[in-house]
Amino acid sequence: MLSLRFFSVLLLSLASLSNGLYILRQRATVCNGRAELCARPYGNTTFLAAHNSFAFSSNPLALARTQAVDVTSQLKIGARMLQGQAHMKDGKLHFCHTSCALFDGGLVVDYLKTVKAFLDANPYEVFTFVFTNPERLSIPDVWKPQFDAAGITPLAFVPPSRTMKRNEWPSLAELLNANKRVIVFIDEGADGSAGSIVDFILPQFQMIWEDPFSPTDSKFPCSIQRSSGPLSNDDHMHLINHNLNRNILPIGDGVLVSDPINAPKTNSVASIVAHSNNCAPLSLGRAPNFVIADYINMGQPMQAVDRLNGF
Ligand SMILES: *[C@@H]1O[C@H](CO)[C@@H](O)[C@H](O)[C@H]1NC(C)=O
Repeated sequence: MLSLRFFSVLLLSLASLSNGLYILRQRATVCNGRAELCARPYGNTTFLAAHNSFAFSSNPLALARTQAVDVTSQLKIGARMLQGQAHMKDGKLHFCHTSCALFDGGLVVDYLKTVKAFLDANPYEVFTFVFTNPERLSIPDVWKPQFDAAGITPLAFVPPSRTMKRNEWPSLAELLNANKRVIVFIDEGADGSAGSIVDFILPQFQMIWEDPFSPTDSKFPCSIQRSSGPLSNDDHMHLINHNLNRNILPIGDGVLVSDPINAPKTNSVASIVAHSNNCAPLSLGRAPNFVIADYINMGQPMQAVDRLNGF
């Protein structure tokens, strides 16, 4: 006979795999690497984010790069949000930095498969994508098929209401136990302005505000630069752009590039916490939900995120 104790230890939840098989999924006791984070609501958690995560190169002369190590290495460092900008090239969706002539990071679907392999190997990690869609490509016809082909759609969280307030999100354990542990945001078009709405592809600015992008001031002054209604800014999560740029052509509009030389200092705990504090007056004193950084293998960005989570 099964004892109650044995039964409770083996509290399992059924979760569907992308290939349609059912596996027994053990309840989460460690969430994103920490037992303490299991009860933490998603909207009250700080995540490390890799800016233009696809644009990695170890070549210091690749001026359009933003990362020095590949996507899997970024995930191993602790990035749980990946950001990237996509463009259409020869009829296929690529990740490219500003233009595909400048930096072509390859097919979006291949990138998503790389992340999916990490998610399969690490089943108790809640993960977020924030993608940039400057060409306002169709959400249902161009974007959704990428997630479908990579096997990510079954893992994607569909919120009970289309715009979730910061304090309405489930806890990390709830997302993990339901195996709906991937949250997908896109900046432009997910509001229904680029084809019909897709239930798991969420409009970033309706739920996350962000401070100035392409910052060049190492003091990172904070202001709400991009946000949209109907929720108030207080009900939004928020994202800090902590990727310092430098201007290498100080005439006209200039040319901004990432700054690997200063990255160890930019990605220090002191610099990231100071930036978070700059935004605190605009966010009811709360820490940012996402800390976007370049060169996340430099400095201590993960330690900064742990600090912001209260560790
Ligand atoms: C989470 O809540 C705590 C306690 O109110 C707060 O100190 C912290 O800044 C919040 N973090 C986020 C990301 O909302």
